[in-house]
Amino acid sequence: MKASVILAHPYPKSFNHAIYKTVNETLAETGTAAFSHDLYEENFNPVMTTGELGSDKSDDRLVNQYADELVESDYLIFIHPNWWGQPPAILKGYIDRVIRPPYAYDFPEESTGGGLPIEKLNGKHGMVYNTSNTEADREDSYFGDPLDKIWEKCIFGFCGIKKYHRRMFRIIADSSEADRKRWLEQVRSDITEIIK
Ligand SMILES: Cc1cc2nc3c(=O)[nH]c(=O)nc-3n(C[C@H](O)[C@H](O)[C@H](O)COP(=O)(O)O)c2cc1C
Repeated sequence: MKASVILAHPYPKSFNHAIYKTVNETLAETGTAAFSHDLYEENFNPVMTTGELGSDKSDDRLVNQYADELVESDYLIFIHPNWWGQPPAILKGYIDRVIRPPYAYDFPEESTGGGLPIEKLNGKHGMVYNTSNTEADREDSYFGDPLDKIWEKCIFGFCGIKKYHRRMFRIIADSSEADRKRWLEQVRSDITEIIK
């Protein structure tokens, strides 16, 4: 079993980094090979180029590497905070540039791109860990939890991933040491339960 683990948070002392560390430690304990990337640390460029948009190839070494790893992985694990109901821009750039044809989905040759895609990531398991500072009631009733729709339907679903697991940890701003410890235990047990 292999996993791609992608972290998008700029601050090394963040709770997101603690999640990333726990995921990586637990994967190692379960004997799962991991392609782990801290996008800020690796200085990933999120901006798609003109040439890249019209082509199946990229000149960016990281884009090609991440895409190859995505295809090779059984588990795709993303860790990021809720920023305006969306992933941070650096991860949005990863989604645009890496989760793309011909790796993650494609269109039939005769298609204009207007129809349904050919799903290329079938059978993989998508996992997302999010953090936020909004109460669950307000997130669900007022904002509609956009990150859930983005990951489950717009990204994983579009590429054929039906096995989906997501956790939102909140409220980070008011959390105690004990809360964070308990949350990291949940991450640890998710990984050991799901990745067998
Ligand atoms: C640019 C920006 C936008 C944010 N937008 C939201 C938001 O829409 N909803 C929310 O609940 N929290 C929002 N937050 C708060 C972050 O989600 C919160 O700081 C983070 O999840 C805390 O995790 P950390 O300790 O790992 O940084 C935002 C923070 C920043 C910096």
